[in-house]
Amino acid sequence: MSYNLLKGKRGIIFGALNDMSIAWKVAERAVEEGAVVTLSNTPVAVRMGQIDELSHKLNAPVIAADATNVDDLAHVFDESIKLLGGKIDFVLHSIGMSPNVRKKRPYDDLDYDMLSKTLDISAVSFHKMIQTAKKMDAINEYGSIVALSYVAAQRTLFGYNDMADAKALLESIARSFGYIYGREKNVRINTISQSPTMTTAGSGVKGMEKLMDFANRMSPLGNANADDCADYCITLFSDLTRKVTMQNLYHDGGFSSMGMSLRAMDQYSKSFDEYRNEKGEIVYG
Ligand SMILES: NC(=O)c1ccc[n+]([C@@H]2O[C@H](COP(=O)([O-])OP(=O)(O)OC[C@H]3O[C@@H](n4cnc5c(N)ncnc54)[C@H](O)[C@@H]3O)[C@@H](O)[C@H]2O)c1
Repeated sequence: MSYNLLKGKRGIIFGALNDMSIAWKVAERAVEEGAVVTLSNTPVAVRMGQIDELSHKLNAPVIAADATNVDDLAHVFDESIKLLGGKIDFVLHSIGMSPNVRKKRPYDDLDYDMLSKTLDISAVSFHKMIQTAKKMDAINEYGSIVALSYVAAQRTLFGYNDMADAKALLESIARSFGYIYGREKNVRINTISQSPTMTTAGSGVKGMEKLMDFANRMSPLGNANADDCADYCITLFSDLTRKVTMQNLYHDGGFSSMGMSLRAMDQYSKSFDEYRNEKGEIVYG
């Protein structure tokens, strides 16, 4: 159902890879709500992913860019302003990748070159995006910038690895830049801390299915899926949230405020055997 919440607004959506991507759902909802958008992803993702399909469906031009490259980002803002016919009202940063997770390097054996890539792609790119936009004065007053985060920024979750550090930095950038951009141009910057969601990036997280089951049992409203997340993004892009900035907003069915639920307790009580690894050794933790 459309409420026309984004009528006349122009947006840039970074990070739609395939129809499971959270960014994909956000782009669809934004257009449904009356916005015009451009889509951006890496040249490889544009070649290998399904973004062209989304582009045709939404009549949304694709502008390839590596979000760690400032010149690429400047090109995205420049082209988007030209193609959409004016300055930008909202931006979604839906980008994350950890080479350490991909290469299965555990947190106590990180490769530091890979750690810098994790931080650059998943967090510093957010700063680069905002700084580039601000220098170009590419965003309208009361524009809204949103990035997607995860509760591992605040609490340790097994297997999330160096992405936890990247998310902590991402959320900090939203606060630090939110102050400056808000003060000078009334531009809002927030992060949404989303439930575990089965996407291409999500499926890289160790034990993802069990993590999703655990989060679901712990959350009074159950896990929020990618469509739910898109709805929440739309509210933050809309004029109904003009005084919301510098926040990390939990969109997780209540998970982040829970300690233990009946459903999780019930599952937990089914076995008190210690966890054993593939060699049969007891592993604590
Ligand atoms: N899936 C989850 O469980 C979950 C939960 C909370 C937050 N998030 C966050 O949501 C965001 C979107 O992830 P998703 O789950 O939709 O997965 P996804 O794999 O569909 O999206 C990740 C995107 O990042 C893009 N990307 C990687 N490197 C890039 C670069 N250098 N420049 C530009 N783009 C680059 C990928 O091409 C891809 O489109 C990420 O920030 C992720 O951490 C996901």
